[in-house]
Amino acid sequence: MKSVVLCASPRRDGNSRMLAEAFAEGARAAGGSAELVDLNEVTSGLLRDCRSCRGPDGRCSIEDGYEELMLETLLPADAWIYATPLYYYGIAASLKNFFDRLVCYASASYPRFEEVAEKTRGKRSALLISAEESNQAACLAVVNQTQELSRYLQHQFVGVVTGIGNTRGEVRFDPAEPLVAAANLGRTVFSAHHSDYNMDSERSNAVWPEARSGDEGSGIYEDV
Ligand SMILES: Cc1cc2nc3c(=O)[nH]c(=O)nc-3n(C[C@H](O)[C@H](O)[C@H](O)COP(=O)(O)O)c2cc1C
Repeated sequence: MKSVVLCASPRRDGNSRMLAEAFAEGARAAGGSAELVDLNEVTSGLLRDCRSCRGPDGRCSIEDGYEELMLETLLPADAWIYATPLYYYGIAASLKNFFDRLVCYASASYPRFEEVAEKTRGKRSALLISAEESNQAACLAVVNQTQELSRYLQHQFVGVVTGIGNTRGEVRFDPAEPLVAAANLGRTVFSAHHSDYNMDSERSNAVWPEARSGDEGSGIYEDV
Protein backbone atom coordinates (compact mmCIF):
# COMPACT_ATOMS: atom_id res chain seq x y z
CA MET A 1 0.00 0.00 0.00
CA LYS A 2 1.37 3.36 -0.97
CA SER A 3 1.07 6.73 0.75
CA VAL A 4 1.93 10.01 -0.89
CA VAL A 5 2.80 12.81 1.51
CA LEU A 6 2.21 16.27 0.06
CA CYS A 7 4.70 18.57 1.81
CA ALA A 8 3.60 22.19 1.73
CA SER A 9 6.34 24.08 3.55
CA PRO A 10 8.87 26.03 1.52
CA ARG A 11 11.40 24.97 4.21
CA ARG A 12 12.71 21.62 3.02
CA ASP A 13 14.39 21.01 6.37
CA GLY A 14 11.47 22.27 8.42
CA ASN A 15 9.15 20.82 11.00
CA SER A 16 6.34 19.62 8.77
CA ARG A 17 8.89 17.88 6.55
CA MET A 18 10.25 16.15 9.63
CA LEU A 19 6.76 14.95 10.50
CA ALA A 20 6.35 13.76 6.90
CA GLU A 21 9.60 11.79 7.08
CA ALA A 22 8.56 10.21 10.37
CA PHE A 23 5.23 9.23 8.80
CA ALA A 24 7.08 7.69 5.84
CA GLU A 25 9.39 5.71 8.14
CA GLY A 26 6.38 4.30 9.96
CA ALA A 27 4.65 3.41 6.68
CA ARG A 28 7.76 1.60 5.44
CA ALA A 29 8.21 -0.20 8.77
CA ALA A 30 4.71 -1.60 8.29
CA GLY A 31 5.64 -2.94 4.85
CA GLY A 32 4.12 -0.13 2.81
CA SER A 33 5.74 2.52 0.70
CA ALA A 34 5.68 6.28 1.02
CA GLU A 35 6.68 9.05 -1.34
CA LEU A 36 7.25 12.62 -0.21
CA VAL A 37 6.32 15.31 -2.72
CA ASP A 38 7.50 18.88 -2.29
CA LEU A 39 4.52 20.89 -3.54
CA ASN A 40 6.60 24.05 -3.92
CA GLU A 41 8.86 22.22 -6.38
CA VAL A 42 6.13 20.52 -8.38
CA THR A 43 3.52 23.25 -8.75
CA SER A 44 4.12 26.89 -9.55
CA GLY A 45 0.99 28.28 -11.16
CA LEU A 46 -2.08 29.38 -9.24
CA LEU A 47 -5.57 28.44 -10.36
CA ARG A 48 -6.80 30.78 -13.09
CA ASP A 49 -10.11 31.27 -14.89
CA CYS A 50 -10.69 27.81 -16.36
CA ARG A 51 -12.61 29.29 -19.29
CA SER A 52 -9.50 30.95 -20.57
CA CYS A 53 -7.10 28.39 -19.27
CA ARG A 54 -8.43 25.01 -20.39
CA GLY A 55 -7.07 24.00 -23.75
CA PRO A 56 -9.41 22.96 -26.60
CA ASP A 57 -8.98 19.37 -25.42
CA GLY A 58 -10.27 20.30 -21.94
CA ARG A 59 -6.87 19.94 -20.30
CA CYS A 60 -5.46 22.49 -17.88
CA SER A 61 -2.80 24.51 -19.66
CA ILE A 62 -0.82 25.61 -16.60
CA GLU A 63 2.65 24.38 -17.36
CA ASP A 64 4.00 22.74 -14.26
CA GLY A 65 4.06 19.32 -12.66
CA TYR A 66 0.49 19.21 -11.35
CA GLU A 67 -1.01 16.95 -14.01
CA GLU A 68 1.81 14.44 -13.73
CA LEU A 69 1.53 14.54 -9.94
CA MET A 70 -2.17 13.84 -10.19
CA LEU A 71 -2.14 11.15 -12.87
CA GLU A 72 1.13 9.37 -12.18
CA THR A 73 1.58 9.72 -8.43
CA LEU A 74 -1.66 10.50 -6.63
CA LEU A 75 -4.25 8.47 -8.51
CA PRO A 76 -2.35 5.18 -8.16
CA ALA A 77 -1.65 5.79 -4.44
CA ASP A 78 -3.75 4.39 -1.61
CA ALA A 79 -3.45 7.34 0.79
CA TRP A 80 -3.03 11.08 0.42
CA ILE A 81 -1.29 12.67 3.40
CA TYR A 82 -1.10 16.43 3.88
CA ALA A 83 1.90 17.91 5.72
CA THR A 84 1.63 21.63 6.29
CA PRO A 85 2.87 24.37 8.56
CA LEU A 86 0.19 26.49 10.19
CA TYR A 87 0.20 29.84 8.40
CA TYR A 88 -2.08 32.46 9.95
CA TYR A 89 -4.42 29.77 11.24
CA GLY A 90 -4.73 28.12 7.86
CA ILE A 91 -2.85 25.82 5.52
CA ALA A 92 0.22 26.90 3.54
CA ALA A 93 -0.50 28.42 0.14
CA SER A 94 1.01 25.57 -1.87
CA LEU A 95 -1.43 23.14 -0.28
CA LYS A 96 -4.35 25.51 -0.85
CA ASN A 97 -3.28 25.81 -4.45
CA PHE A 98 -3.13 22.03 -4.69
CA PHE A 99 -6.71 21.90 -3.38
CA ASP A 100 -7.90 24.69 -5.68
CA ARG A 101 -6.44 23.08 -8.77
CA LEU A 102 -8.21 19.82 -8.09
CA VAL A 103 -11.10 21.51 -9.86
CA CYS A 104 -9.21 21.25 -13.16
CA TYR A 105 -9.37 17.44 -12.88
CA ALA A 106 -12.39 16.83 -10.68
CA SER A 107 -14.87 18.43 -13.03
CA ALA A 108 -16.67 17.11 -16.08
CA SER A 109 -14.81 19.54 -18.35
CA TYR A 110 -11.69 17.45 -17.92
CA PRO A 111 -11.64 14.69 -20.54
CA ARG A 112 -10.47 12.03 -18.08
CA PHE A 113 -12.87 13.10 -15.30
CA GLU A 114 -14.53 9.68 -14.97
CA GLU A 115 -11.16 8.02 -14.54
CA VAL A 116 -10.05 10.64 -12.01
CA ALA A 117 -13.25 10.25 -9.98
CA GLU A 118 -13.06 6.48 -10.05
CA LYS A 119 -9.43 6.33 -8.99
CA THR A 120 -9.74 9.10 -6.38
CA ARG A 121 -12.51 7.43 -4.38
CA GLY A 122 -11.84 5.09 -1.49
CA LYS A 123 -8.39 6.21 -0.41
CA ARG A 124 -7.30 7.10 3.10
CA SER A 125 -6.06 10.51 4.15
CA ALA A 126 -4.39 12.11 7.17
CA LEU A 127 -2.91 15.41 8.26
CA LEU A 128 0.43 16.47 9.75
CA ILE A 129 0.65 20.04 11.05
CA SER A 130 3.52 22.00 12.53
CA ALA A 131 2.75 25.18 14.43
CA GLU A 132 4.34 27.55 16.87
CA GLU A 133 1.25 27.93 19.03
CA SER A 134 0.03 25.05 21.10
CA ASN A 135 -3.44 26.56 21.53
CA GLN A 136 -5.67 23.71 20.32
CA ALA A 137 -8.04 26.05 18.50
CA ALA A 138 -5.29 27.46 16.30
CA CYS A 139 -5.29 24.41 14.03
CA LEU A 140 -9.05 23.74 13.96
CA ALA A 141 -9.63 25.41 10.59
CA VAL A 142 -6.88 23.32 9.03
CA VAL A 143 -8.31 20.12 10.43
CA ASN A 144 -11.81 21.09 9.39
CA GLN A 145 -10.87 21.97 5.83
CA THR A 146 -8.84 18.83 5.30
CA GLN A 147 -11.48 16.60 6.79
CA GLU A 148 -14.26 18.15 4.70
CA LEU A 149 -12.19 17.83 1.55
CA SER A 150 -11.56 14.20 2.43
CA ARG A 151 -15.29 13.64 2.76
CA TYR A 152 -15.85 15.32 -0.61
CA LEU A 153 -13.23 13.13 -2.25
CA GLN A 154 -14.68 10.05 -0.53
CA HIS A 155 -11.51 9.48 1.43
CA GLN A 156 -11.42 8.08 4.95
CA PHE A 157 -9.67 10.68 7.11
CA VAL A 158 -7.87 8.66 9.76
CA GLY A 159 -5.69 10.97 11.79
CA VAL A 160 -4.10 14.27 12.70
CA VAL A 161 -0.69 14.82 14.27
CA THR A 162 0.28 18.29 15.42
CA GLY A 163 3.88 19.08 16.28
CA ILE A 164 4.78 22.27 18.11
CA GLY A 165 7.91 24.12 17.02
CA ASN A 166 9.07 27.17 15.16
CA THR A 167 12.76 26.96 14.28
CA ARG A 168 13.73 24.30 11.74
CA GLY A 169 13.51 20.78 13.13
CA GLU A 170 12.51 22.02 16.57
CA VAL A 171 9.50 19.78 16.53
CA ARG A 172 11.74 16.90 17.61
CA PHE A 173 11.97 18.53 21.06
CA ASP A 174 8.20 18.72 21.53
CA PRO A 175 7.62 16.64 24.68
CA ALA A 176 4.35 15.36 23.22
CA GLU A 177 6.55 13.40 20.76
CA PRO A 178 4.75 14.20 17.52
CA LEU A 179 7.45 12.38 15.54
CA VAL A 180 6.55 9.18 17.35
CA ALA A 181 2.87 9.89 16.70
CA ALA A 182 3.54 10.58 13.02
CA ALA A 183 5.48 7.32 12.66
CA ASN A 184 2.64 5.51 14.38
CA LEU A 185 0.14 7.09 12.01
CA GLY A 186 2.30 5.93 9.11
CA ARG A 187 2.31 2.41 10.50
CA THR A 188 -1.44 2.29 10.99
CA VAL A 189 -2.80 4.47 8.21
CA PHE A 190 -4.41 1.49 6.45
CA SER A 191 -5.38 -0.48 9.53
CA ALA A 192 -6.72 2.32 11.75
CA HIS A 193 -10.36 2.03 12.75
CA HIS A 194 -12.57 4.45 10.85
CA SER A 195 -16.26 4.98 11.44
CA ASP A 196 -18.74 7.64 10.39
CA TYR A 197 -22.29 6.56 11.14
CA ASN A 198 -25.75 7.62 10.23
CA MET A 199 -28.44 7.03 12.86
CA ASP A 200 -29.62 3.93 11.03
CA SER A 201 -26.21 2.44 10.32
CA GLU A 202 -26.13 -1.23 11.22
CA ARG A 203 -23.44 -2.07 13.74
CA SER A 204 -22.65 -3.79 16.98
CA ASN A 205 -23.04 -1.50 19.98
CA ALA A 206 -19.51 -2.47 21.08
CA VAL A 207 -16.84 -0.83 18.95
CA TRP A 208 -13.97 -3.26 19.57
CA PRO A 209 -14.26 -7.02 18.93
CA GLU A 210 -12.60 -7.73 22.32
CA ALA A 211 -15.50 -5.97 24.05
CA ARG A 212 -18.17 -8.10 22.39
CA SER A 213 -19.83 -10.77 24.43
CA GLY A 214 -22.70 -11.39 22.06
CA ASP A 215 -25.49 -9.36 23.64
CA GLU A 216 -24.58 -5.96 22.17
CA GLY A 217 -26.94 -6.39 19.26
CA SER A 218 -25.84 -5.98 15.68
CA GLY A 219 -28.54 -3.97 14.03
CA ILE A 220 -29.61 -0.36 14.50
CA TYR A 221 -28.06 1.21 17.62
CA GLU A 222 -29.83 0.22 20.84
CA ASP A 223 -29.53 1.34 24.46
CA VAL A 224 -26.39 -0.03 26.10
C1 LIG B 1 3.81 33.12 7.13
C2 LIG B 1 3.81 32.40 8.46
C3 LIG B 1 2.65 32.39 9.21
C4 LIG B 1 2.61 31.69 10.41
N1 LIG B 1 1.45 31.68 11.12
C5 LIG B 1 1.39 30.96 12.28
C6 LIG B 1 0.19 30.91 13.04
O1 LIG B 1 -0.82 31.51 12.71
N2 LIG B 1 0.20 30.17 14.18
C7 LIG B 1 1.29 29.45 14.58
O2 LIG B 1 1.22 28.76 15.58
N3 LIG B 1 2.44 29.48 13.86
C8 LIG B 1 2.51 30.22 12.73
N4 LIG B 1 3.68 30.26 12.02
C9 LIG B 1 4.82 29.45 12.48
C10 LIG B 1 4.91 28.11 11.75
O3 LIG B 1 3.70 27.45 11.76
C11 LIG B 1 5.97 27.23 12.42
O4 LIG B 1 7.22 27.88 12.39
C12 LIG B 1 6.09 25.88 11.75
O5 LIG B 1 6.84 25.03 12.57
C13 LIG B 1 6.73 25.99 10.38
O6 LIG B 1 6.74 24.74 9.77
P1 LIG B 1 7.91 24.34 8.76
O7 LIG B 1 9.17 24.23 9.60
O8 LIG B 1 7.49 23.03 8.20
O9 LIG B 1 8.03 25.40 7.74
C14 LIG B 1 3.75 30.98 10.85
C15 LIG B 1 4.93 31.03 10.09
C16 LIG B 1 4.96 31.74 8.91
C17 LIG B 1 6.24 31.77 8.11
